[in-house]
Amino acid sequence: MKLPFLNRKPKIPNQPDSPQLTLEDILAPSEIEVNFNSLRIGQNFYRTYFMSNYPRFIEPNWLEPLISFDHSLSISMFIYPSESKGVLDDLKRKIAEMEATIQTDIERGRIVDPAVQVALDDARGLQEQLVKGAERFFQFALYVTVPAPNLEQLTNISKLVESTLGSLSIGTQPTTLQMEDGLKTSIPLGQDLLNLPHNMDTTSLATTFPFTSSELTANEGIMYGINEHNGSLILFDRFTLENANSVIFAKSGAGKSYFVKLEALRSLMFGAEILVIDPEQEYLNLARAVGGQYINFSATSPVKINPFDMSGVITPGENELGRKILSLTTFLKLVLGSLDPTEAAILDRALKQTYRLRGITDDPKTQHLTPPLMEDLYKVLIGMEEKTAVDLASRLERFVKGSLSGIFSSASNIQLNNSFTVFSVRDLADQLRPLAMYMILEYIWTKVRSKLKKRLLIVDEAWYMMRQEDSANFLVDMAKRARKYYLGLTTITQDVEDFLGTDRGKEIISNSSIQILLKQAPASIEKIGQTFNLSQGEKRLLLSAGVGQGLFFAGNTHVAMSVVASPEEHGLITSNPQDLLAKEAERLPNY
Ligand SMILES: Nc1ncnc2c1ncn2[C@@H]1O[C@H](COP(=O)(O)OP(=O)(O)OP(=O)(O)O)[C@@H](O)[C@H]1O
Ligand SMILES: [Mg+2]
Repeated sequence: MKLPFLNRKPKIPNQPDSPQLTLEDILAPSEIEVNFNSLRIGQNFYRTYFMSNYPRFIEPNWLEPLISFDHSLSISMFIYPSESKGVLDDLKRKIAEMEATIQTDIERGRIVDPAVQVALDDARGLQEQLVKGAERFFQFALYVTVPAPNLEQLTNISKLVESTLGSLSIGTQPTTLQMEDGLKTSIPLGQDLLNLPHNMDTTSLATTFPFTSSELTANEGIMYGINEHNGSLILFDRFTLENANSVIFAKSGAGKSYFVKLEALRSLMFGAEILVIDPEQEYLNLARAVGGQYINFSATSPVKINPFDMSGVITPGENELGRKILSLTTFLKLVLGSLDPTEAAILDRALKQTYRLRGITDDPKTQHLTPPLMEDLYKVLIGMEEKTAVDLASRLERFVKGSLSGIFSSASNIQLNNSFTVFSVRDLADQLRPLAMYMILEYIWTKVRSKLKKRLLIVDEAWYMMRQEDSANFLVDMAKRARKYYLGLTTITQDVEDFLGTDRGKEIISNSSIQILLKQAPASIEKIGQTFNLSQGEKRLLLSAGVGQGLFFAGNTHVAMSVVASPEEHGLITSNPQDLLAKEAERLPNY
């Protein structure tokens, strides 16, 4: 007996006739189980859906709930352009059919089916658009495959997908008995094995573009808030933009100051120096908490700024005294009201004379000498022969020794050496507030230019400055030049109309890479909409926004944002009287 297997040669691997493993063999799953309504590949389960009908109207970005779905999904779209000619013929036939149906209903005294009427109107509208060439026609197919680690989860996630799409009035159907084709269609092979498209015109198709929810997340920077489109964080470093300026517009109480304080606090931790002009004494708590310097200007407070101070910075090619005299003229215009050309010429002469009396001339070497005071200018004006000069002197008198003398009439006694400095002007008379804000800004500007450092300068309630042309010009000038000095200027205003109504205001906006819009009043929404090119939806968002919600623009991108602070941060930055009283009560001893 011959046993056939005994004399068989041992098999040698790699011999040409032995079966070889191909790449497909290695990559392919060990088994695939195709079921009625699901597919099992290895340990994982899959179910594919196709969209069976769409609502009459779809909003831009309607796929967003699907894109930001909480589980991973494979989504595939197929877009087939159609010949308008064929579509038009079909439409013509369809329209004729529908018209006939309606006509028959009317003749027989039946109520016209509203669905047919609506469909007819739509078809006519589409026909018109196609004929004009304003729209093109497409076939669009959308498939979603749900993966899950077990059957139970597959059922649950599938239900979620169905209800998410159902909430958008989109009908979904599983690709029953075609699960394998479904899977192949939704993996990136570019093959539509299911071929279940729907008609769509160009506009509707454009709304399916899936990635309109912008991200504003950089690798570095501070957190500005939560992206309302998809719940991601808005992380940003404003110093990476072409300029670091920002503007914030919103109605009163919308959360402007809150947002800015939060930004200041977080930027401080990243090494920026913060300077604030605070007309409402809102930044006191924060300044105290971070060990900052709080400089309060009032009629009785000992802090003084001498408008005649020189910067001590010698920039080659720049005439420091000339620049100073220009800025003093602006300041004095604010102090004295408007100046006619004769008055301006006399003032210019008087200012030069005032400096000369202290030995200060165009020669930079003389410019470190003790600067003159307001009183010196007053004396010079009195001593001049012209009647106009004496008039000017009498207009100036109030600021030298009268009721408004105070912060500008003596030598400066403030130091800018803290990394968080707040200048409060709340306790000043209304008349003096814009003057003080101007002077402080001028003082800060001088310091900023003398030493390069990352700084944020916050001008809260900036409309005080924008009311007068000269101080508005100064702010614009600062916004334009800030970038060179590593300075980010933050301008906050609730008086949107006033701000946007002026060219100066518009210039500040165009020189600010970051723009934040929080809740707006109905009266100003149209203007805001025009200025920032907002869509109807965005305008609605701003009208109905809650406190701390709005739009965040950075460069060319913008997202809807909500501002959130940790409880610790909230305690430092809130201006809610209830919160403040609660804090006060915590501090007081219990009896
Ligand atoms: N994101 C937020 N989360 C919680 N509370 C907030 C938020 N933003 C603001 N608030 C609270 O809302 C109130 C108003 O905020 P805020 O003072 O910042 O308003 P504003 O826009 O600066 O108003 P105004 O123009 O009057 O100065 C404050 O009590 C503040 O604590
Ligand atoms: Mg405020």
